[in-house]
Amino acid sequence: MANEHSDKYSGLIDIIIDHIDYHLKSKSLAKQVITPYGKTGSSKKQEVAEMFDNIAANYDFLNHFLSLGIDKIWRRKAIKMLNAKDPKMILDVATGTGDFALQALEMNPDKIVGVDISKEMLEVGKQKIKKKGLENKIELMLGDSENLQFENDTFDVVTVAYGVRNFENVEKGLSEILRVLKPGGKLAVLEFSKPTKFPVKQVFNLYFKYVLPFFGRLVSKDNRAYSYLPESVQVFPDGVNFTNILEKTGFKNTQWKLLSFGISSIYIGQK
Ligand SMILES: C[S@@+](CC[C@H](N)C(=O)[O-])C[C@H]1O[C@@H](n2cnc3c(N)ncnc32)[C@H](O)[C@@H]1O
Repeated sequence: MANEHSDKYSGLIDIIIDHIDYHLKSKSLAKQVITPYGKTGSSKKQEVAEMFDNIAANYDFLNHFLSLGIDKIWRRKAIKMLNAKDPKMILDVATGTGDFALQALEMNPDKIVGVDISKEMLEVGKQKIKKKGLENKIELMLGDSENLQFENDTFDVVTVAYGVRNFENVEKGLSEILRVLKPGGKLAVLEFSKPTKFPVKQVFNLYFKYVLPFFGRLVSKDNRAYSYLPESVQVFPDGVNFTNILEKTGFKNTQWKLLSFGISSIYIGQK
């Protein structure tokens, strides 16, 4: 009888300890800065640039393959939601291989500029733009979101797809974007978010944590890039937390829309 009682209690205590452990772990993960390689002596920015340099050659293939092509639909939706009226100058921050910059052609601007910290990603993008004969319309160049090389009030629209999660300092990047936007200009941010509803949450977690890193490693030969991806999504302040950051930075008329059951989100803000 006494044994039965103590078994019951120890089971209960185990459950309580597991619970506390789980909460402590998720709290410390939330505070943690996730870097691709976790090297000592290098900043998140240096490691992010190095990682994208490493995977640049396979990035487009993996992006479209692992998202089953949905990423293209998400970019198109973001541009639609921007609802920008005849923008002349567009800036695509964290442009990578230029997919969002190319999509922004739909808005029929005079000029699109794309900036990124990864030289190799930009190289792939420049080749794509050259092949399409769009060099006069789209210009890609090295540039850091946290220290943009443009004058105040330059752009009618700024876009960022799957970039903000990688910024070393999100607030600094957003305030630089606000600075280079013209008054009334609009920002569209596309970023992964964390689905919360059964069974999308469970299926997404399995896919994101196991399937995606496996294929990512296999194709890109970078052991960390596609594990860093779900880890960085996990700690990213998505949803209302991100619109709060936008507002704190000074953006007005913020909007947030979930895509594909919450796998991705579009955020809009206005200067
Ligand atoms: C996942 S890729 C997205 C590329 C592209 N926007 C797309 O939709 O395919 C993220 C990009 O953000 C860039 N990046 C990260 N931090 C940056 C920063 N501080 N300034 C500019 N680009 C940055 C990376 O180099 C990388 O090319």
